[in-house]
Amino acid sequence: MSAPKIVVFAGSVRTGSINQKLVVAAAKAIETAGGVPTAISLKDYALPLYDGDLQSRDGIPEAAKQLVELFLGHQGAFIASPEYNASFSPLLKNALDWMSRVNIEGRPPLPAFKQRVFALGAVSNGAMGGYRGLTQLRSMMELGLGALVLPEMVAVGNAAAAFADDGGLANEKVAALLAQTAGRLVETAGALA
Ligand SMILES: Cc1cc2nc3c(=O)[nH]c(=O)nc-3n(C[C@H](O)[C@H](O)[C@H](O)COP(=O)(O)O)c2cc1C
Repeated sequence: MSAPKIVVFAGSVRTGSINQKLVVAAAKAIETAGGVPTAISLKDYALPLYDGDLQSRDGIPEAAKQLVELFLGHQGAFIASPEYNASFSPLLKNALDWMSRVNIEGRPPLPAFKQRVFALGAVSNGAMGGYRGLTQLRSMMELGLGALVLPEMVAVGNAAAAFADDGGLANEKVAALLAQTAGRLVETAGALA
């Protein structure tokens, strides 16, 4: 069996994004756990704000189709999600919404999300580490997109002190949670490979 492939990306494309730092740490943890991470940026998949009229007129944007194709070649994904007003970013919601509109002939709906496993993480400057936003993201992924989402959620608080010089997580307990989550993600993805 080949090593499970995992897409890793952040719900932020901001220069200096703290969630992008978690992407780097998560990709490393996935590699250590025996998986093959593919780190991407949503900046490379620019999408207009979803509008049904736009879809009717122009169809689904190529970037949404490319994202779905990318996911089809992977067995899992790790999403590092910024917290916006106790929810997740509109950039991430918009990408997931467009992806949910992509159908592939001969496959059931939501091909990017079914038969794949997801793990969620967040970084914020607050003490709760974006945990509230992750509950909202979990709800969308599970109830809306029919995805399998691991119970572990890597919420990283106090962002300014959260990362060590080597890019790993500074707090031992949080680093151990990321390692455990990456291990379970790779193991579960392996069963889907
Ligand atoms: C509209 C908006 C709402 C925000 N709401 C929250 C919040 O509810 N909780 C929190 O911890 N941080 C909140 N923040 C701060 C973000 O977590 C912070 O800007 C973070 O750096 C964003 O992630 P990024 O660095 O990966 O872009 C908010 C930021 C914005 C722009």
